[in-house]
Amino acid sequence: MMTETTQWIKLGKISKFDEGVTSIRKKRKNFAILKQDGQIVQVIQDNCPHNPRILISDDYLIENNMITCQFHGACFDLSDGSKVSGPGKSKVLLTYEFRISNTDNLEILLES
Ligand code: FES
Repeated sequence: MMTETTQWIKLGKISKFDEGVTSIRKKRKNFAILKQDGQIVQVIQDNCPHNPRILISDDYLIENNMITCQFHGACFDLSDGSKVSGPGKSKVLLTYEFRISNTDNLEILLES
């Protein structure tokens, strides 16, 4: 029987991430890092739960703290990842607990 464990993994230096949204791939997963006024405000999965396509692309839309998938219009609340509208059975876009270490390192808590 396998057991799930969690561990903090480093995504990178906050100072290196763009203001707005940065997409990054680590541990064979896609993440989107949302940065506002120099602070990290959220880390989400960068795949749409409806159909695992990349969520952040040239046509993504963030408005009123909601992100809308360009493919079929699923809309998620960025504060907790809950689906507001759109297709698919999955009701949530994964969000990750994060912390800052050594003043500039962004780390997220990831299950493995
Ligand atoms: S792939 Fe995102 S709504 Fe369908």
